[in-house]
Amino acid sequence: MDEFTKEMKHRKFTKAIVRIPGMSLVNGLTTASLGEPDYTKALFQHEKYIKALRDCGLEVTILEADEKYPDSCFVEDVALCTSKCTVITNPGAGSRKGETESITPVLRQFFTDIEFIREPATVEAGDIMMVDDLFFIGISERTNMKGAIEVAGILGKYGFTSSIVELKEVLHLKTGVAYLGENNLLACGEFLQKDVFKNFNLIEIPEEESYAANCIRVNDFVMIPAGYPKTSKLIRAAGYKILEVDVSEFRKLDGGLSCLSLRF
Ligand code: GLY
Repeated sequence: MDEFTKEMKHRKFTKAIVRIPGMSLVNGLTTASLGEPDYTKALFQHEKYIKALRDCGLEVTILEADEKYPDSCFVEDVALCTSKCTVITNPGAGSRKGETESITPVLRQFFTDIEFIREPATVEAGDIMMVDDLFFIGISERTNMKGAIEVAGILGKYGFTSSIVELKEVLHLKTGVAYLGENNLLACGEFLQKDVFKNFNLIEIPEEESYAANCIRVNDFVMIPAGYPKTSKLIRAAGYKILEVDVSEFRKLDGGLSCLSLRF
């Protein structure tokens, strides 16, 4: 599991976990004013998303829909999967806390070392960005300082380092920033001026395409949301092969490409 390609020193992923959206998806949390997601379209887009992960070389474990939790297809938030351990989080959103229960036995199949975040610490892993052996942890409405400190402590035990980033304008850290590898960091809005990111080669995502800052580097590809031509051009210009995936129905729930899977 702990493989890095020599040429690019970027962690190679072999597996992903996704959860099929339930019909309750339409009741998911949102701050967007883009209307209710179309469930049939969301299912179709989710299938294409799984195909894209497979096209990147991943073996995908598909979990069945969990109607009790409208946001449960956003599996990324409930666990942090590193090359050495997994951390089951404690989502800051009250309606999402129970999602951790069903992901725990699934992750036990893949990880020997499993850690937990417990109240009053809250963490959603959408707030955690991996940059090789360094993890940026966002303090947001969902991840509190206690949670960030606990995650940093756990990561430290496994030889990783962490850096804390406060955010104000977006839901999760990875809503506005994405590490592509090779020191290239996609960023928009408040993240463009942060000192902690000043040593990266920043690729500035224009404000009108800010949703596309949530891209994911998966092995030889960068998956980007369909419909953001300026971002697509910028990423291609940086030398990456891209895979475009339409996630418009998940955007209506503040969800992005990274939120829809755990990759490790
Ligand atoms: N709808 C995704 C979230 O708010 O967690």
